[in-house]
Amino acid sequence: MRLVPPYIETLEPYKPGKPIAELQREFGISRVVKLASNENPLGPSPLAVQAIQKEYGNLHLYPNGGLDIREILAQRFRLNVGNVIAGSGSEGIMSNIIRAFLCDDDEVLTSEGTFVGFYVLARSRGVKMVLVPLNDYRFDLPAIAERINDHTKIIYLANPNNPTGTIFTRKEFDAFYRAVPERVLIILDEAYFEYAQDNPDFPDSMQYRYDNVITLRTFSKAYGLAGIRIGYGFAHDALITNLLKVKLPFEPSTLAQAAGIAALGDHAFLKRTLEANAAGKATVIPALRNLGLTVVPTNANFVLVPLESESAVDEVYTALLHKGVIIRPLRAFGLPHCVRITIGTADQNAVLLASLQKVLETTKVLS
Ligand SMILES: Cc1ncc(COP(=O)(O)O)c(C=O)c1O
Repeated sequence: MRLVPPYIETLEPYKPGKPIAELQREFGISRVVKLASNENPLGPSPLAVQAIQKEYGNLHLYPNGGLDIREILAQRFRLNVGNVIAGSGSEGIMSNIIRAFLCDDDEVLTSEGTFVGFYVLARSRGVKMVLVPLNDYRFDLPAIAERINDHTKIIYLANPNNPTGTIFTRKEFDAFYRAVPERVLIILDEAYFEYAQDNPDFPDSMQYRYDNVITLRTFSKAYGLAGIRIGYGFAHDALITNLLKVKLPFEPSTLAQAAGIAALGDHAFLKRTLEANAAGKATVIPALRNLGLTVVPTNANFVLVPLESESAVDEVYTALLHKGVIIRPLRAFGLPHCVRITIGTADQNAVLLASLQKVLETTKVLS
């Protein structure tokens, strides 16, 4: 008898950006700049940190499954609590979507060059996954619509997309939505929506309350709470009811829920985050282009940089590691010739740019 199904046997687990402590241990470097996981370079929301500290005395009690934050989100977005879910990061909710809605002969449909976490979750369910090529580093929605068949059950779209930073527009989404049968669920993953919301072309999915669309959002990025694991989602109550059946009863944790609630009110931190990101982009993007690199225009807190080949990626990635700078190679995302660089603080960006300049001078990556 097999220990695990064949699709688990061959599954490559999600490999996160290299942790700072690992690089310090491996290379004996003390100063490390990590620009590999789109974390908030300003740290966590201070109001969230205070809220966490206030909950320490309640840690002997089980949490209430996210009810408090669901109520607050419902009020803020004028929905019913039955339309809202909270979980261990948006990826935790994604995992529950995969578990709740997919039968063995269902298919999932998405793009090449999108969030590797979704690929891993879909593969862990053993269903067929159809991947449509990107078009100029953007989701090709018309081509995705053409690949819908009778087995398609879930379509996954990330907007802005990770790792490209690109968005599909309101007009493009409207045309796409008309081509999707109602029985197909669309996951609209808006992990980076805060960075894109001022772009008039960005289709904020909270303005599209379609019955077959599940919006996913997170506190991991703009609120700096990646380490506490809290994300949320909105959908028709029939979908949320089924997600609540499979969710772990006590997620999110007491601390995660308190952090998320406080972060929602931390408007000053969000403003600082968005301003720092805009300033960082304004420095980093022209500087990378001055170094002779191509930078894909971004609507998020990171940039995609295509290089000439996968071996150029290996060379640049490794040389930067030796200088204490961690960026993200993108083979697992289906873009082996690209790297992704998170926008950091002014100091981190300066270290990145100086290190990269030296690396490009000493390698043959740019012809
Ligand atoms: C597009 C996208 N979705 C989801 C996630 C996961 O976020 P969370 O920390 O909320 O699980 C990420 C994290 O990198 C992401 O880039």
